[in-house]
Amino acid sequence: MPVLRPTPENLDRAAAALRAGGVVAIPTETVYGLAANAFDARAVARIFEIKRRPTFDPLIVHVLDEAMLARVVACVPPAARALIERFWPGPLTLVLRKQPSVPELVTSGLPTVAVRMPSHPVARSILERTGTPLAAPSANLFGRLSPTRAEHVERALGHHIDFILDGGPAEFGLESTIVTLKPAPAVLRPGSITIEEIEQVTGPLPAEQSDANHPVMPGGLPQHYAPATPIRLVRAETVPSAERERAGFIALSQRAEGYAQARQLSNRGDLREAAARLFETLHELDDLGLERIDVEPLPERGLGIAIMDRLRRASNVEF
Ligand code: TXA
Ligand code: MG
Repeated sequence: MPVLRPTPENLDRAAAALRAGGVVAIPTETVYGLAANAFDARAVARIFEIKRRPTFDPLIVHVLDEAMLARVVACVPPAARALIERFWPGPLTLVLRKQPSVPELVTSGLPTVAVRMPSHPVARSILERTGTPLAAPSANLFGRLSPTRAEHVERALGHHIDFILDGGPAEFGLESTIVTLKPAPAVLRPGSITIEEIEQVTGPLPAEQSDANHPVMPGGLPQHYAPATPIRLVRAETVPSAERERAGFIALSQRAEGYAQARQLSNRGDLREAAARLFETLHELDDLGLERIDVEPLPERGLGIAIMDRLRRASNVEF
C-alpha cells in the first residue's frame, strides 16, 4: 500500500503489479481511480471487493490510444467519433458496444462498455507501460466521497491496495461526463465537461431523462458521494444562528457568520475552480467532527449542474 511518487522506477513497479493481476490507485485528471487489467476478471473482482461495490454497477475502462480502444469496443459510430475528436484525451466517457473479450464483470453483463482516454500524464504512462486497457472506478468506498488526492485514497482504501501513485491534486476534481449514443446521444452523468460543450458537437440533447429513483445508468443511485457528516443543501440566511455553532458551511463565494467552519469554493465565483475544490473541501470538513455541513446551492449552469448533482446525492443520505 505504499504511496509512490511517479518516478520511472515506481511507474514500472506499478505497471508490473497491474500485469500480475494487482490493483493500483492512479491519478487521473478527474479523480483518482482504482485500476486493474480490464481483461483480467479476477483482478477486476478485487476492485469490487475493495470498494465494496455491488456487481450490478459497471466500471469505466481507460485506454491509451485508438489501438487500445479497438480492443475494447466493437464499433465507433460517427457521433462518438466526433466527440472523441473534440474531447479525447480528457474527461469524457462514452458508452459503446463492447468487444466480446471484455469480461462481463466489467460491464455488469451489459452489451455496452463505458470507455475513456485519460489525459493525466501518470495515467497515460501507466497505460503505456502496462500495455492493457485498465478498468478503474473512482478509488473510494462505494457511495462515499470521490478522492481528489492520494491521501484520500490512502485513508479510505490504503490497506487493501498494492500501490497508490501520487500525481498531486486532481485538475478537474469531478468525475468525467458520461455520454451514451444509443438510441440517440444523451448525458448519463453530468461531469467535468459541461452539457453545453457536448451539445456544441452533438446538437441539442434531451433534458435529463431520469429521476432520482429511476437511474438511467446502473450506478446512478440517488444516494452517493456521501461524507460521514450529514449534508444539507440550504440557504444560510434561513438557518438560525443557534444551528450554526457546531455546523460547517460551504458556498461558492458567499460568506455566512456564526458557523464553526466556513469555506468558499471560489472567491471569484468561478465554477471550474469550485468543481476542482468540491470533494477536497467536503473531505476536509468531514474530518472535523462537525454536526452537519450546510451547503449553499450553486447556480445550475455549466459545471454547476454536475456540482449540484453530486451535492444532491450527498445530501440524500439518511443517518
Ligand atoms: O472520471 C471518472 O469517470 C472516474 C475516473 C477514475 O476515470 N471514474 C469514475 O468511475 O467515476 P465510477 O465507477 O465511479 O463511475 C462510473 C459510472 C458508474 O456509475 C456506472 O454505472 C457507469 O459509469 N457505467 C459504467 N458502464 C456503463 C455502461 N455500460 N452503461 C451505462 N453506465 C455505465
Ligand atoms: Mg465513483
